[in-house]
Amino acid sequence: MVVSLFLIINWIPSEAESIQYYAKQCNKIAGISINDFSCEDGKEIPIETKKNKDNLSQPCNNPSLLGKGNPCMTGSKLGMLTFNDDAIVIFICRKFNDSRATDGLYDEVAIIQHNKKSGATCWYQSDLKPSAPIPPNIKSPKDSDFVDEKNQIKWELPSNLEKHAKCVNCHTNDPFVGTPYIKNILEDFLRKNKYTYEDRIQGAYWSPYLEWNNLKHVEFLKESSGKQCTSCHRIALNPANENTCQRFLSESLGLKDETHPNIPRINAFMPPHNRDNLTIEKAKKILADIKSCCQEPDGERCKVSELNQKD
Ligand code: HEC
Ligand code: HEC
Repeated sequence: MVVSLFLIINWIPSEAESIQYYAKQCNKIAGISINDFSCEDGKEIPIETKKNKDNLSQPCNNPSLLGKGNPCMTGSKLGMLTFNDDAIVIFICRKFNDSRATDGLYDEVAIIQHNKKSGATCWYQSDLKPSAPIPPNIKSPKDSDFVDEKNQIKWELPSNLEKHAKCVNCHTNDPFVGTPYIKNILEDFLRKNKYTYEDRIQGAYWSPYLEWNNLKHVEFLKESSGKQCTSCHRIALNPANENTCQRFLSESLGLKDETHPNIPRINAFMPPHNRDNLTIEKAKKILADIKSCCQEPDGERCKVSELNQKD
């Protein structure tokens, strides 16, 4: 942490507007570098066609929960770019529209660079309003420019991510969002990196150079139905945006989220080992229990603490 604070203090505002500078500092602080890569190095995210006719409105069994484009679009890729004992880099090349099906191009590319030991996590996202689809060969952010050249990706500046694409609004519990869409491939990558349940529960997690380090996590002080969730991973919240506590919680329990009616409903995917026993009543109880902690932290039942302050 001492090293990281030193780097933050040395963050020069004018240079902060350069993606190359951000990326170079991040490579140092995360202890792992992002080099040029190809979307095709990733694994194709399989879309499971719907087997049973049920009353849920999802078009496939494992829709993306991002909420952009066709959630059952085929051809997107998830890749582990590189890893070492402490750090991991995961990228996703997404296709949002049916017109992208066979053209070999992508609508969005995003990268997460995470160091398990220090918790330092850096974020990269392609142009939020792209003028053209993205070819698969991706220039490393450390060598890339925001200026659009042929075959060169436009990476968003950190200041734009802060304003328009706050990654931690959804990537809240820990750096990686595991939904049924990418679950199998993501688990495989994290297993290779020895990213354990302990890391998911206790791992440090913060974003250098970005002003969004105010995440909190919920601890249940008494026996409660929410407690069964925190045995495998943190339930965290972002006071500025309640995606985890509202949308993703409901989605994971297979309950409709009225704040996002357009997102396809999926079957319950949490808790993974006994979700078949999860009746609607139980799911509602868990949801109400966790939500009440989000809404009324520091009650008798729960304690809400800073996520990046390790005890
Ligand atoms: C609106 C919610 C939301 C925001 C904001 C968001 N993501 Fe994600 N992201 C998701 C979801 C949900 C997944 C899991 C895959 C799926 O269901 O589409 C995901 C998956 C990913 C993955 C694949 C690895 C993983 O964690 O599963 C990467 C890489 C990624 N996001 C990068 C980013 C970056 C970088 C930003 C910020 C610039 C960002 N995301 C902002 C919702 C979001
Ligand atoms: C047996 C371990 C385990 C238990 C218990 C568990 N989870 Fe999870 N949860 C996971 C794993 C692992 C993932 C990542 C997806 C995957 O790989 O299956 C995940 C992902 C999630 C996500 C997606 C967002 C993210 O941060 O990845 C939500 C929301 C979630 N869990 C909520 C819950 C809730 C609510 C409960 C309690 C009802 C619960 N979980 C219980 C293991 C668990």
